[in-house]
Amino acid sequence: MRSLTISIFFTLFTNLTRANVVFEVEQLTEDDIGDFSAIAFGNASETVLLNNDDRPDCREYPGSPDWPLDEEWSRLNRSLGGALIKGIPPAAVCYDGPYKDEAACTYLMRNASSTRFYINDPVTVLSEWPEGDTCHAPSGQQTGGNCTQGAFPVYVVNATTVRQIQIAVNFARNRNLRLVIKNTGHDFVGRSVGFGSLSVWTHWLKDFEFLPRYRIGAYRGRAARVGAGIESWEMFAHMTRYNMTVVVAGGYTVGAYGGWMAGGGHSALASKYGLGADQALSIQVVTADGRFVTADPRQNTDLFYALRGGGGSTYGIVTSAIIKVHPPTKILASSISFTGSFNTNFWKGFDLYHEFGKKIVDDGGTACYVSRRSDNSSFSFMTDIELPNVSEEYLSKFVQPLVDDLNAIGLNVTNRPPRPATNWASLSDGAGDTPGSSRFGSRLWPRANFEDAAQFRATQAAIRETVEAGYTFHGIHIQPTEEVAGYPGDNAVNPAFRRAIMHADLYDFARLRGASPDAFKAAHERLAGAMDKWRAASPGAGAYVNECDLEEPDWQQAFFGSNYGRLLGIKRRRDPWGVFYAPGTVSSEEWRVVTEDGMPTQNGPLCRAGSVEAWRGV
Ligand SMILES: Cc1cc2nc3c(=O)[nH]c(=O)nc-3n(C[C@H](O)[C@H](O)[C@H](O)COP(=O)(O)OP(=O)(O)OC[C@H]3O[C@@H](n4cnc5c(N)ncnc54)[C@H](O)[C@@H]3O)c2cc1C
Ligand SMILES: *[C@@H]1O[C@H](CO)[C@@H](O)[C@H](O)[C@H]1NC(C)=O
Ligand SMILES: *[C@@H]1O[C@H](CO)[C@@H](O)[C@H](O)[C@H]1NC(C)=O
Ligand SMILES: *[C@@H]1O[C@H](CO)[C@@H](O)[C@H](O)[C@H]1NC(C)=O
Ligand SMILES: *[C@@H]1O[C@H](CO)[C@@H](O)[C@H](O)[C@H]1NC(C)=O
Ligand SMILES: *[C@@H]1O[C@H](CO)[C@@H](O)[C@H](O)[C@H]1NC(C)=O
Ligand SMILES: *[C@@H]1O[C@H](CO)[C@@H](O)[C@H](O)[C@H]1NC(C)=O
Ligand SMILES: *[C@@H]1O[C@H](CO)[C@@H](O)[C@H](O)[C@H]1NC(C)=O
Ligand SMILES: *[C@@H]1O[C@H](CO)[C@@H](O)[C@H](O)[C@H]1NC(C)=O
Ligand SMILES: *[C@@H]1O[C@H](CO)[C@@H](O)[C@H](O)[C@H]1NC(C)=O
Repeated sequence: MRSLTISIFFTLFTNLTRANVVFEVEQLTEDDIGDFSAIAFGNASETVLLNNDDRPDCREYPGSPDWPLDEEWSRLNRSLGGALIKGIPPAAVCYDGPYKDEAACTYLMRNASSTRFYINDPVTVLSEWPEGDTCHAPSGQQTGGNCTQGAFPVYVVNATTVRQIQIAVNFARNRNLRLVIKNTGHDFVGRSVGFGSLSVWTHWLKDFEFLPRYRIGAYRGRAARVGAGIESWEMFAHMTRYNMTVVVAGGYTVGAYGGWMAGGGHSALASKYGLGADQALSIQVVTADGRFVTADPRQNTDLFYALRGGGGSTYGIVTSAIIKVHPPTKILASSISFTGSFNTNFWKGFDLYHEFGKKIVDDGGTACYVSRRSDNSSFSFMTDIELPNVSEEYLSKFVQPLVDDLNAIGLNVTNRPPRPATNWASLSDGAGDTPGSSRFGSRLWPRANFEDAAQFRATQAAIRETVEAGYTFHGIHIQPTEEVAGYPGDNAVNPAFRRAIMHADLYDFARLRGASPDAFKAAHERLAGAMDKWRAASPGAGAYVNECDLEEPDWQQAFFGSNYGRLLGIKRRRDPWGVFYAPGTVSSEEWRVVTEDGMPTQNGPLCRAGSVEAWRGV
């Protein structure tokens, strides 16, 4: 009896007092700073008063006059407890120079792409072109090229404590450095790399804690405290252990609490529980002044709003979050595919499928499909229709009317019986990611486009033309309304998500490695022309910031919609220095990356937009 009382007391006590995960206990103090003023905290309310003319035009980079001296980097490293890493492109081992290492290069070419090599690398990002087309792992007959630093960061803080993150933020702000945040490096457009930058690598912040009884505001129930470095696949072991479901990305090595949650975050449960951004109940974050704060429904509510949907790398560095826990939820998938030639009913089948999409999302389901031109005479279509918490019989019956309709128009339909969804499991143990290099555009297609007959025809025609042009169409049916999202609500998710029933990407698989600037630009112009058709068929809709074309026209509207003004206000108040910059994020229009070749990469100094225009004599 007595020991029971003690253990209950102990449980309650620890739940109430231990407000942070282990790596958050170590925080930066005035004593740590001592006389190392380069790591002192900032004060946003003093900074807004500064005269703008006193600010340097560009961030420092190696070779610029105020780039810190080696001794200062060493001092920084000591204050970080030795966690500073030099940012070396991993393929440097294959090129002449100080890092050349044949054994390491052989490993890179033979083994890296089937292991965790790239995800565990401090500087690699999975989309190559933003780095500036440099230092690729040689593949096949492809040799040559050069290995330069490009947009790979110069130094990386391998963060394992909040204290180190605070030091990095303070140092970057005080010394006018470009700061980047890298978690897994999945971002497609260069938001986790930067020329001349100091990078904060959140990858190893993997602490997890199950909270059996958690309450905040109107929320009562189970919750989990999750470190910002946890990947989607790593959550499945926790889900099994605690007999629960939490919402994570279908892409298994996507960081569940970094960019995914910050930019929205869709998954196989989006029509049942909302987006990734809808899951957070409380967020721990290091802000631009270097302070470590809690953002939740009661405190720092501006940050709490912005960090849930307002984009990564903008308002602070998230270190952990408390997220909602749902009952254990199985997801079953039914795969349907068909092919067709130019003169078959392929496109009629495509229409039938898009009619059916409304039923899928209304039943709490999602679907993930790909359609492409296989060669000059045929097209293929493949979808996984996924429903949570249903039996195999239910799902079979659910898809049968669609299969019947497709058969009735003479399509050769393959219908695999229901099985557990492959995007809802940790099948590959997080291995097998390799950098790629392609560009694409995104559209959040509103429900209205599938309800009104004329709009439906226009939608289908626009999509058809782009597939016929040779692009690959990747559609995801989701319906993440505010209603399914539930408490706490009022977040910065792109309003276009709330009206959408389909998020779609249009992929251009034109080869970008080694492409000349002209070829690169020409490929993009063609893609943008195709995307214009989608935009014309969905005026005022939006695009998903986490899967976007960096050169999306009117991107502020497309990525953030009517939230943009409020987000910009929060950004300016919280980060008047612009410590956090990434392309295509709130306030990034105030900056330019000045690249030598004029390409939209991160391979060049980061300068204030006005100053660049002044140089160019505008
Ligand atoms: C193979 C693949 C599969 C994908 N699957 C899905 C999917 O199923 N659903 C979906 O919605 N999206 C998916 N995406 C897109 C994904 O949501 C974005 O790439 C997302 O930004 C990745 O976040 P990250 O933290 O893993 O990556 P990173 O590239 O490390 O970070 C992305 C952005 O967030 C910032 N950031 C990261 N961590 C933090 C932090 N702790 N604090 C503040 N800012 C931070 C970075 O600076 C960067 O701007 C996929 C992408 C790929 C390449
Ligand atoms: C920041 O500056 C303001 C204005 O000078 C001051 O009132 C405030 O106390 C400062 N905050 C801190 C934490 O020093
Ligand atoms: C930082 O210090 C550690 C430990 O002393 C050392 O191993 C590492 O090489 C240093 N980093 C840099 C960039 O010099
Ligand atoms: C690399 O892969 C090859 C097969 O492709 C295998 O024989 C070898 O053992 C692997 N090496 C390492 C270090 O994993
Ligand atoms: C590599 O760099 C050298 C020196 O800057 C340059 O002359 C050469 O053209 C580059 N090669 C490639 C393939 O870019
Ligand atoms: C980064 O830190 C982690 C955790 O301490 C460690 O396991 C890893 O080896 C470090 N990575 C590098 C490249 O130093
Ligand atoms: C898991 O939770 C479900 C419902 O929440 C319950 O029915 C089931 O018995 C639990 N299983 C275990 C092993 O506790
Ligand atoms: C498709 O047609 C184009 C021109 O009409 C031709 O260049 C191309 O080789 C053809 N592709 C295939 C796969 O048949
Ligand atoms: C799953 O379905 C059952 C039966 O329809 C229902 O009782 C239960 O609440 C559902 N669970 C979830 C998590 O939706
Ligand atoms: C139908 O599709 C299957 C599987 O793709 C294929 O093997 C078969 O040959 C096709 N039949 C016809 C009549 O096209």
